[in-house]
Amino acid sequence: MESFFKRAARDLSEAKIVVALTGAGISVESGIPPFRGKGGIWEKFDPMEYAHIDAFMKNPGKVWAVLLKEMKEIVDQAQPNAAHLGLAKLEKLVKNITIITQNVDGLHQSAGSTDVIEFHGNFAWYHCLNCRRRYSCSQIDLATITPRCRCGGTLRPECIFFGELIPPDLLIRSRQVASQCDVMLVIGTSAVVQPAAWMPVIAKDAGATVIEINPESTPLTNETSDYFIQGEAGQIMQKIVAEIKRL
Ligand code: OAD
Repeated sequence: MESFFKRAARDLSEAKIVVALTGAGISVESGIPPFRGKGGIWEKFDPMEYAHIDAFMKNPGKVWAVLLKEMKEIVDQAQPNAAHLGLAKLEKLVKNITIITQNVDGLHQSAGSTDVIEFHGNFAWYHCLNCRRRYSCSQIDLATITPRCRCGGTLRPECIFFGELIPPDLLIRSRQVASQCDVMLVIGTSAVVQPAAWMPVIAKDAGATVIEINPESTPLTNETSDYFIQGEAGQIMQKIVAEIKRL
């Protein structure tokens, strides 16, 4: 029987439009912990206490001191791994690829991917809750918590907290590409947070082949995914790219 790597390589190279939905798992091999499961961020911190917009607005200093500082320090050090690089190579090997990422680490762009929808925002930009002035990541000084604007206002990262809406333009475009793609790769997401987890369902309903890559099964595995390649994203993406080059 054809291996899943060969099958994925064939499906990807025959596709006119490819979409990849990525989650925290794709950045685990870059040293960024996932949210759920063993060693996950939500094991250490209660998301309702540290990742909900109401918690941030009530006490930004507490959220900055505990969750945002730690995450920003990890994200600032992280480098793209073989999975991010593999997706960037796919862009060169297959024609049209859009990445919908739930991650805020910017590693897809660092790897060279050019069409990235940051569904949950990013840590690259911050703005003042008072005057809306924007700051880039390198302008944020973590020596003082809470980081402040020159007007004295509190800065917030341009990520989406729980309780906030996905920006409508990102949601509309994600739904659009999901409904148009021939293949959707679902890499490193537990697929439990909506509306991101709905994108593979949209793709499948529109006739796409859904390929899931994850060491663990998810709610999509038996219901939505056409096939499941079990394992770590970096090694699997490397093998798929090698197979595509062989075709
Ligand atoms: P999760 O932490 O929920 O899931 C991470 C997934 O990655 C799990 O299914 C793991 O099995 C898998 N995984 C772990 N190591 C991996 C590896 N080396 N290669 C591939 N997969 C691996 O992360 P997300 O699904 O991204 O939202 O979480 C979705 C959202 O929930 C996040 O964007 C965040 C969070 O709360 C907000 O903060 C709004």
